[in-house]
Amino acid sequence: MSLSPYLAPGFYDRALASGRHRDIVGGRWEETAGAQMRALLDEGMRSHHRLLDIGCGCLRLGHAAVPYLAPGHYWGTDASAALMARGWETELPLSARPRLPRAQLVEDAVFGFPGIPSGMDYAIAWGVFTHLPAETLRPALANLRRTCPSVTLLLTVFLAPEGHEGACRQPDGVVTHADRPPWHRDAGAVEADASAGGWRISWRAARLPRGQRLAVLQPG
Ligand SMILES: C[S@@+](CC[C@H](N)C(=O)[O-])C[C@H]1O[C@@H](n2cnc3c(N)ncnc32)[C@H](O)[C@@H]1O
Repeated sequence: MSLSPYLAPGFYDRALASGRHRDIVGGRWEETAGAQMRALLDEGMRSHHRLLDIGCGCLRLGHAAVPYLAPGHYWGTDASAALMARGWETELPLSARPRLPRAQLVEDAVFGFPGIPSGMDYAIAWGVFTHLPAETLRPALANLRRTCPSVTLLLTVFLAPEGHEGACRQPDGVVTHADRPPWHRDAGAVEADASAGGWRISWRAARLPRGQRLAVLQPG
């Protein structure tokens, strides 16, 4: 059993070779990009801010955020450089390409944020930790806090009630698990990871695609 679908050998190569880069990030392209933009705008992001898109994939959010933000104000990280490149080449409107220097798409599979400037205003990790084992979140949050000390982070997770055993059906019908992807956590465990990294966390009521929950983390 794989801890993450993204770790399966040849996963990215096969999907990219058959032109299925949108499927890698879960499809529902405009709906999800719209939900991400709305969430960021609701939290106060404006065009002069700097955004770090953690696990940005093939720019589902980026294809909307790059044209909105001031030139050079979007950075993305992902485990797959090839997936980000495919997004830049096929999903960014032509007129938006000069607004996103390719060096601002950074390959990073360990949430170390190499080369990411400290002055990010917003970061978003949407549908990323839902696919990764619980223990990846705490060090990632600590690294982000060190790298970008004043950033506001929007984080999506699947939640299950504390002590819940077995699978959990989310409001959107997705079935999540404690021991395999898609992963769920209990809210208290996510809050503990946040506070260990020096963050204050609050939950938003908004219903997100696939039944994910949105947490907003700010430096504590
Ligand atoms: C469900 S997709 C979401 C992509 C993007 N956030 C969006 O909403 O369009 C999950 C993304 O996480 C990336 N990913 C998986 N494991 C990762 C890791 N260890 N470090 C960084 N990114 C990872 C995948 O390559 C993929 O792009």
